[in-house]
Amino acid sequence: LGKGEKGEYIEVDENEKLPHSEQRKWEQEQIKSAFFKFGAKDAKAQDEYDLLIDEQIDFIQAIQLEGNKEQSEEQISEYQKQRMNIEETKKSLPVYPFREDLIKAIKDHQILIVEGETGSGKTTQIPQYLHEAGFTVDSKKIGCTQPRRVAAMSVAARVAQEMNVKLGNEVGYSIRFEDCTSDRTIIKYMTDGTLHREFLSEPDLASYSVMIIDEAHERTLHTDILFGLVKDIARFRPDLKLLISSATLDAQKFSSFFDDAPIFRIPGRRFPVDIYYTKAPEADYVDASVVSILQIHATQPLGDILVFLTGQEEIETCVEMLQDRAKRLGKKIKELIILPVYANLPSDMQAKIFDPTPPGARKVVLATNIAETSLTIDNIIYVIDPGFAKQNNFNSRTGMESLMVVPISKASANQRAGRAGRVAPGKCFRLYTAWAYKYELEDNSVPEIQRINLGNAVLILKALGINDLIHFDFLDPPPHETLILALEQLYALGALNHHGELTKTGRRMAEFPADPMLAKMLLAGEKYKCSEEIVTIAAMLSVNSSVFYRPKDKIIHADTARKNFFHPSGDHLTLMNVYNQWADTDHSVQWCYENFIQYRSMKRARDVREQLMGLMERVEIEMVSSIHEDVNIRKAITAGYFYHIAKFSKGGHYKTAKHNQTVMIHPNSALFEELPRWVLYHELVFTSKEFMRQVTEIESKWLLEVAPHYYKSKELEDSTNKKMPKKIGKIGGE
Ligand code: CDP
Ligand code: MG
Repeated sequence: LGKGEKGEYIEVDENEKLPHSEQRKWEQEQIKSAFFKFGAKDAKAQDEYDLLIDEQIDFIQAIQLEGNKEQSEEQISEYQKQRMNIEETKKSLPVYPFREDLIKAIKDHQILIVEGETGSGKTTQIPQYLHEAGFTVDSKKIGCTQPRRVAAMSVAARVAQEMNVKLGNEVGYSIRFEDCTSDRTIIKYMTDGTLHREFLSEPDLASYSVMIIDEAHERTLHTDILFGLVKDIARFRPDLKLLISSATLDAQKFSSFFDDAPIFRIPGRRFPVDIYYTKAPEADYVDASVVSILQIHATQPLGDILVFLTGQEEIETCVEMLQDRAKRLGKKIKELIILPVYANLPSDMQAKIFDPTPPGARKVVLATNIAETSLTIDNIIYVIDPGFAKQNNFNSRTGMESLMVVPISKASANQRAGRAGRVAPGKCFRLYTAWAYKYELEDNSVPEIQRINLGNAVLILKALGINDLIHFDFLDPPPHETLILALEQLYALGALNHHGELTKTGRRMAEFPADPMLAKMLLAGEKYKCSEEIVTIAAMLSVNSSVFYRPKDKIIHADTARKNFFHPSGDHLTLMNVYNQWADTDHSVQWCYENFIQYRSMKRARDVREQLMGLMERVEIEMVSSIHEDVNIRKAITAGYFYHIAKFSKGGHYKTAKHNQTVMIHPNSALFEELPRWVLYHELVFTSKEFMRQVTEIESKWLLEVAPHYYKSKELEDSTNKKMPKKIGKIGGE
């Protein structure tokens, strides 16, 4: 690579001497400051770089049309060629030679652990082998869980294509708020959370002959709980086959958990990957990634690039920067196809990731750590690894959950590097120092169950009749306090009674594939006679990506448009305004365009809303509207989110009601300049500071109305104006 301050790499030297302690200290500080500097940038990123996905798509489509032109010139039975390719690809996968042995092992054992390098064909091939071996007779299904939505969807699409069937017929997928299966479905991919919900309606999984718990090494909360559930079921369903499939990590641990189930190892093929480190830590890894991509593009032989970023916003920022700089370089560089991949990526965008790169061009895939193990993109030769990932962290002391960007583990770093060596020798550029790798990164990531809020999981387990959670068969048990806190929260929400048993409210809440707070809010729509509005708000909250579009060159217009939707009480009703006005235009695309609203987000909100309406019907809540009673609507929201309350305090910031933590209103909020005394927030996001996102003004007395067992009137007294400094800053506990 070229010389210069940035993107100057050194090759790893295993025998490298330990740096002096001074150097270590210096590096440590650099890394910390890099991390925090980026944090500040990220907050700004959310603010400034909200990029229109559509624009991105136009760009990509334009490029792909170019690419397709050449292909369509040779129109020799394109279809046949494609099928041949599929057959060839299937046979070339590392799992293929073990097909018979694998089926035999599955027939011989009820539970089998399957271990194989990422990309060896576990996810796409094994269900097909099982189908061919007769495991789908009598319309029994083969189920396969995935920790991520995008993976479930794209893998199902791929398998449908391989089997030459329409997606949703024989091969389908089911994810939260979207069921793409039919009566004919025999191979079903789903998220691990979806399988949880299936347990509620089919506790013995009777319609399945095989269940594959895939990507087990990811250790998501849902997957971890599934381990205990399926292990239990296997005991009284001897005919059910269970496969636990994982990348080359942890297989032994899974085997011990499943009563020493045998391990089937698929030998991997891996080409060597050269690892390069930066000489000094990078202050801004998004910028450093862009520089590295362009350097690779300009100086390295053809071969696709995979970059690991932490989330949608960052990816969009990176896409924008890349497009910008690539445009400026113009014809000086070869064609660069920029493809984003993240959890909420619209399905029509997903297929594009797997399209072959046109001759002479280079593909650069900007992905979250979904591409670490869940998705395999062929022909990646170069990996750029900034070394961070977004993680949901829960503080069991304060009961607060927030999304943070954290350094990855060594295991992750090695997985990421491995992505470069699947088809040929590759190169991995780590945007951190060799020292940081050795001494800063943990060996393994902490499983989710030990670091996030368990409210949702506990509610489902309770709904499944599992009452004794302390003795539930966990692969790694959650911390005791976290479990207790989840129970307390569910009790406060009215989902459990004081014996810890599920109440009628709890049973109804469990019907919603949502956080218990959101579920409670939906139910409260009944009491406050505003179910219509609440469902709309819930749907809008579920659309993770921002609905407001702020292109850099039209920020003033976009902000004016956004402000037109502002509701004086805050963001929840602002979101409702957006939705209702859009619905009034008959869901117009043009309207979205004119009002700087992301059409895709709205479309998704509409789908979610429809699903939620169905669920409301299931719990027998009538749809009624009190559109002009905004107090009612806000009370219903408070009935679910009374945990998320903050109060204005001295110094212009907020303190959370129970734990007195300093938090701020996010600059994008409708209340950013209003600063009301009491607010409710939907979520906390930690970037440079702890920000509340989606904020609404409430009155403290509502808290006594909706959560009398949680708030005492004394805690809600207004201490702000009192002269006694002791009272300020400390609001008593329970
Ligand atoms: O599960 P595992 O990591 O072992 O591999 P896999 O996901 O079954 O991938 C096997 C092959 O299918 C890889 O070469 C992928 O590139 C390909 N694949 C694809 O072309 N399109 C998808 N949507 C998923 C996988
Ligand atoms: Mg897989």
